[in-house]
Amino acid sequence: MPITPTPKIWMNGELVDWDKAQVHVLTHTLHYGTGVFEGIRAYATADGPSIFRLTEHIKRLFESAKILGFSIPYTVDELVQATKDTVASTGLDSCYVRPLAYLGYGEMGLNTLPCSTEVAIACWPWGALLGDEAVTKGVRMKISSWTRHDHNTMPPAAKTVGNYVNSSLAKVEALKAGYDEAIMLAPNGLVAECTGENIFVARHGKLLTPPLSAGALEGITQSTVGALAKDLGFEVQVDNIARSDLYIADEAFVCGTAAEVSSINSIDDREIPCPGPMTLAMSEAYLATVRRENPKYLDWCELTI
Ligand SMILES: Cc1ncc(COP(=O)(O)O)c(C=O)c1O
Repeated sequence: MPITPTPKIWMNGELVDWDKAQVHVLTHTLHYGTGVFEGIRAYATADGPSIFRLTEHIKRLFESAKILGFSIPYTVDELVQATKDTVASTGLDSCYVRPLAYLGYGEMGLNTLPCSTEVAIACWPWGALLGDEAVTKGVRMKISSWTRHDHNTMPPAAKTVGNYVNSSLAKVEALKAGYDEAIMLAPNGLVAECTGENIFVARHGKLLTPPLSAGALEGITQSTVGALAKDLGFEVQVDNIARSDLYIADEAFVCGTAAEVSSINSIDDREIPCPGPMTLAMSEAYLATVRRENPKYLDWCELTI
């Protein structure tokens, strides 16, 4: 999806003009994929832009860096404020937000220890990742021929820049084969997640989603859906899912900050009932919550001022 420029990008403590937010070609992360990042959304509300679960996203950025063994030279509070300032500087009511902590120019080679950590935060308008009709019509999924990372190769719990080569391979394979998105299996053959979303399936009236140990990112939307599902009286189980569970699901959906809640209409050409009643209820509850219409979760909705 093309990026629409906005006035400013936050870089290492300063809001700089969009076109001036540049790095040297010998920046470490550009060569070795050593950075970590986040994907966050701000939603238009009567009280101004509201950034959904901002603090948790920034905390996960720090956890990703911790897993990789490098530190970020700011506090969580400082980057929360920097994100709010960046969103406010654009004048946009709603946008996608991309904080990135990357290892900078000055050191080369695989030893990251002497590298400096730089931080940038950009935001721009971005619509529904899987299309505007992803909830009602659903998306066609393909189980990828690419395997999700093993915990001892590329830790899947860290949102590492380099991890997403694996996601890109799966995404492009799925698109070229005429599907919308890929489901990734872990090295043990169990379902991990999608290229940029977690997955839920409904069976026997219960919602199931794979755990972090299955190679899934610990999704903030997955946790939001879990809480909202319980409020709606649905039973939710974080548990391993086998490939066959997918094919015979009563309904299924993907969820993530970019994709929100999107129905699945088929997996490897096996039709899945779509849109299912639980999926529709989850999508509605999710959108109401991110728009500050659910009083129980106002703490999750962080205003820029
Ligand atoms: C691989 C992967 N899984 C799951 C998710 C969903 O995570 P979240 O709900 O925190 O956006 C993302 C999105 O960042 C992702 O990239």
